[in-house]
Amino acid sequence: MSFFRPNVDRIAGYMPGEQPQDSGWVKLNTNENPYPPSPSVVEAIREAAGSRLNLYPDPLATSFRRVVADLFELDPDWVIPANGSDENLTILLRSFVDPGELVVYPYPSYILYETLADLQGGSHERLPLNADWSWNHAAARSMVERAKLAIVPNPNSPSGNRWSDDDILSLIPPRGVLVLDEAYGDFCDVPHRAELLRRPEGQRIIITRTFSKSYSLAGIRLGFALGQPDLITGMRKVKDSYNCDRLSLVAGEAALLDQAWMQANAAKIRSTRGRLSAALQSLGFAVVPSQANFVWTTHPSRPHQSLYEELKRRKILVRFMKFPEVPAASDGVVSGLRITIGTDGEVDQLLAALREIV
Ligand SMILES: Cc1ncc(COP(=O)(O)O)c(C=O)c1O
Repeated sequence: MSFFRPNVDRIAGYMPGEQPQDSGWVKLNTNENPYPPSPSVVEAIREAAGSRLNLYPDPLATSFRRVVADLFELDPDWVIPANGSDENLTILLRSFVDPGELVVYPYPSYILYETLADLQGGSHERLPLNADWSWNHAAARSMVERAKLAIVPNPNSPSGNRWSDDDILSLIPPRGVLVLDEAYGDFCDVPHRAELLRRPEGQRIIITRTFSKSYSLAGIRLGFALGQPDLITGMRKVKDSYNCDRLSLVAGEAALLDQAWMQANAAKIRSTRGRLSAALQSLGFAVVPSQANFVWTTHPSRPHQSLYEELKRRKILVRFMKFPEVPAASDGVVSGLRITIGTDGEVDQLLAALREIV
């Protein structure tokens, strides 16, 4: 006998990438930043840790929202912080999706969207992508028309490609909201600046951002969403009162104020990304042109799972992904490796290992 809601019993639960707790790994599997956060972040945490931890944080995160708003040239009413983008995704599902309502998202992409829709009791459909990760617009349209929520990562994961604004605008549900997950927006050659929110269609778009990637702060759990004030005000009713703690809010504020640090790291990652992509191609791999801090790569003859295992034996972790639901005979992607861009040294170790293996 189970006491759980049937929706909870039915699902396997989201399985995050491996997080080995011992040292010595070249860890290229969960898209963390290989560089440390700005020294001003560490200083801000140290200072905040020394005072007022006995008091709850500001439930509205007033100071933090002002800094985000300045950066994106919006009003603070357009900003809501959360315990990582994952929490904002949970808030979005709870805000907009009633049991039975439809959530759509591209497939393959971030499978957490599906888990959250299941937990909420919503139904879900996968928007099919072509083998080159472009949209199958005809197939997408009929699903988007029935959706309450469409969730689209741009750049996408695991592919790393970035879709055009026109592609994105065509995915706004006529009777719902589009969530644009820009976890990797800072790594684009032309970075995202929340431009779509300023268009007339922006009234029904929410953008989510995270500190886990470009700001090197996956360990503190902080993100924020941007959108029109009426959407953000509604989401505020759904969040926990104190969903972000004092230490992460001051850390996030300091990180945003040191744009030069983040941009310098993002530039290094873009440069290493170019070098890794070219080297993989010279080893016979196909690589999707990436606008993120990882690349999606496939090999025409070597099984991807055994490549992953051979690398793991050498203490190099990458992410092996397979999509059994995509029929091998169709025009879809079936399996591959997603490799996070590490430091130049880490990428050299990976390439040396791959040269031995393939
Ligand atoms: C597309 C996408 N969205 C959101 C997240 C999660 O971000 P956060 O660490 O802020 O919860 C990830 C993490 O890998 C991701 O790939």
